[in-house]
Amino acid sequence: MSSQNLSLRLGVLISGSGSNLQAIIEAIESQQLPGIKVALVVSNKADAYGLQRALKHNLPAIYLPWEQRPVGAQFIAPEIIAPKLTMSESESRLTTLLHLFQVDLIVLAGWMRILSAAFLEQFPQRVINIHPALLPDDGTGSTFTTKNGIQIPAFRGLHAVRQALDAGVKITGSCVHFVTPEVDAGPVICQEEVVIEEGDTEETLHERLKVVEHRLIVKAVGGLKVLHEPA
Ligand code: GRF
Repeated sequence: MSSQNLSLRLGVLISGSGSNLQAIIEAIESQQLPGIKVALVVSNKADAYGLQRALKHNLPAIYLPWEQRPVGAQFIAPEIIAPKLTMSESESRLTTLLHLFQVDLIVLAGWMRILSAAFLEQFPQRVINIHPALLPDDGTGSTFTTKNGIQIPAFRGLHAVRQALDAGVKITGSCVHFVTPEVDAGPVICQEEVVIEEGDTEETLHERLKVVEHRLIVKAVGGLKVLHEPA
């Protein structure tokens, strides 16, 4: 079977604006990703703008509440202070949804919740993430070497854009990588460097990084389609 005939159903998980989701949708609509569909969009936030983007394109879009307890809440009855689903309840609902919508590849596109090892084990090599910093090719290690041979820290976790600015590095970037239980430490699929400009703020730099991400995520998803050829 030629890769043109294969199909790949994406489950896109978001928490916010969804501009990367939009890039995927536009690439699909302009025939850049033949055989690829957005099967489902899930947000852990009811007011995530990405949900509106999905609905505008008639895509199934679901709000799935996710545990986020205030600091100290573990000392108080959780159902009183945060009557939301626990992480494992949310994950098991998410699993059910992903199976129901026959998702082949899960794309974390600004998804702000950690997924457990038990969840990830169910989808080996089938969960990818967009991260606004550069990571070593195999995902591990504390530094990244730029094309010009400069070593910079591998910024992981929250506020990676701010971390790069605070560290005073001249180059940062974005990557798409496989998700493993250790946060932002899975093998890199593709990445691109971005020069930090004089006077950049977290916002201006993040906007430029997102332009790059929109290219990277389309490239990554298109490349992975071949990997997911049914046996
Ligand atoms: C992106 O910058 C991505 O790297 C990070 O979250 C942001 C999501 O942006 N993980 P958007 O919601 O796709 O606009």
